[in-house]
Amino acid sequence: MTTIEQLKPQLEALREDILNAIALSKTRPVLYDVKVKYFGKSGPLTALMKETGKLSSDLKPLWGQLVNSLMQEVQNNYAQKEEQIKQIEIEELMSAQELDVTLSGVKPPMGTYHPLTIVTQQIVAILSRLGYSLRLGPIIESDFYNFEALNIAENHPAREMQDTFFVGPKHVLRTHTSPIQIHSLEKESLPLKVMGTGGVFRCDSDISHLPHFHQIEGLYVAEQVSMADLKGTIRFFVKEFFAKDLKIRFRPSYFPFTEPSAEVDCQCPICQGKGCSLCKQTGWIEIGGCGLVNPKVLESVHVDSKRWQGFAFGFGIERMAMIKYHIGDIRLLPENDLRFLKQFS
Ligand code: PHE
Repeated sequence: MTTIEQLKPQLEALREDILNAIALSKTRPVLYDVKVKYFGKSGPLTALMKETGKLSSDLKPLWGQLVNSLMQEVQNNYAQKEEQIKQIEIEELMSAQELDVTLSGVKPPMGTYHPLTIVTQQIVAILSRLGYSLRLGPIIESDFYNFEALNIAENHPAREMQDTFFVGPKHVLRTHTSPIQIHSLEKESLPLKVMGTGGVFRCDSDISHLPHFHQIEGLYVAEQVSMADLKGTIRFFVKEFFAKDLKIRFRPSYFPFTEPSAEVDCQCPICQGKGCSLCKQTGWIEIGGCGLVNPKVLESVHVDSKRWQGFAFGFGIERMAMIKYHIGDIRLLPENDLRFLKQFS
């Protein structure tokens, strides 16, 4: 029969080996190998447990206790070491990714406003200061709002297929922002000072025309409105928009919805009237149309034209952007090439 004294040195030697191996482990994989090698299911500690069979039955429990308490001890030791290694790993990771809060950050790329948005916002801001409230309208308009109420006769060339996109027998993609005038006159009380803006559509495309472009226009209706009021408004607007004291001039023109009507020129903001390539050496640049509201327009929405008068004016936003930022080709505006857009940041 084997005695406990005979087995004890083996147990003692194994204890030393295991504790040493744990102490020397520096990484978790190495530590894990120690566990597999010494006190896993097929390791020597488990084997020693099985030596119990060789002992007399009164010694068996004692031996069992000794082996179990060694198992407890190495398992505790193992857990402690594992925790220690984890801490070291975290510290190493943190120092490797050290954050220097004094370094300047990397700027994320920022979007910019589209030049048409910039110009729209500028015009809206200037007209707001004169008391105009912003109104938007639908892009698809009925014949009534786009033409009829604006005194554009059935046989007027503006209604022709080559100018207008029809989306139904009686519906069009609005060809101008003037139908917004009609919606306001219908719904709002007088006197009235509104501006309308948005996209408009015409079958037209070349270096200075797009099939989809943008307009902004103003409408003022009150009991006494004169051409002089209109001129003062446009002069103020031009001065503010180009940030220069530019002269303006009215050239007689024709719009069915204004009477009298005028085309508005302003002194070329580039050469201040001396003559350059933008103004084709004339010193003047056409910026829009205007006039006193035709009484027929007021009557079409049941406004008493004997009591009320008005003026209206409209500008092309692409054109204003091209003049202000010296853009030579209107097609650059809808293209959205970042190299172009970034210049307006
Ligand atoms: N609606 C006109 C156009 O599209 C512009 C305009 C607006 C003219 C207001 C006079 C008054 O050409």
